[in-house]
Amino acid sequence: MTDQFSRRVALRATAVGAAGLAAALTGCSGPGATRPASTTAAASTPAPGRRVLVAFFSRAGENYFYGGRTNLAIGNTEVVAGMIRDRSGADLYKIEPVEPYPNRYDEAVDRNKQEQESGALPAIAGALPGVGPYDTVILGSPVWGSRAPRIMSTFLAGIDLVGKTVLPLVTYAVSGMSGIDEFYRDALTTSTVDRGLAVQGEKVRDAGPDIGNWLRGHNLIS
Ligand SMILES: Cc1cc2nc3c(=O)[nH]c(=O)nc-3n(C[C@H](O)[C@H](O)[C@H](O)COP(=O)(O)O)c2cc1C
Repeated sequence: MTDQFSRRVALRATAVGAAGLAAALTGCSGPGATRPASTTAAASTPAPGRRVLVAFFSRAGENYFYGGRTNLAIGNTEVVAGMIRDRSGADLYKIEPVEPYPNRYDEAVDRNKQEQESGALPAIAGALPGVGPYDTVILGSPVWGSRAPRIMSTFLAGIDLVGKTVLPLVTYAVSGMSGIDEFYRDALTTSTVDRGLAVQGEKVRDAGPDIGNWLRGHNLIS
């Protein structure tokens, strides 16, 4: 968590007042908390001949929600990944840490801070995907501390994306893309890192039109 993000959260907590703050402290449950990932895609047809992999990291559990907290049954980025699959027929690969991130939000923030400050490469559980058959790889993650979680760097170090089109995907609370697309562009000099998509975490289930337009803009659906 950057100071900037922490400051904004503090401001939001002040703005929502005592009731909101109490809800935040007791872990209120927002509307995004329990609904399963959407499977109702607007009419769309996967573009023939395109092989797409969505490789994503996502953490369920206690998270930020409009200045308070919620408990996510499915992480926001995983919801978006499912919506992309439903619309485009993309394959999904979920990046799972060997040491799971804490369920408690503040503890996850602390661990991320340590990992970002030390440049850690948290280990990934299980085998990495074979990316050979794919021409397009969507790299999905939440924004953590205004950057990509360090486990995305572990992933990049373990796979060869030479010649692939890479599309950044993030979900966030306030920070937007946060330069994560530029980070991938700098890291993946032998790939084409094209226009990414940033979706606000609280609104992932309403993001169908934006997701559809983004996929269509990259000729991944018609
Ligand atoms: C450890 C941690 C750090 C976060 N840092 C930021 C941040 O710097 N900027 C921001 O907009 N949101 C931040 N968030 C909020 C998440 O980016 C947002 O809730 C996202 O949609 C979560 O996706 P996920 O459920 O797929 O993990 C942070 C959340 C966590 C748990």
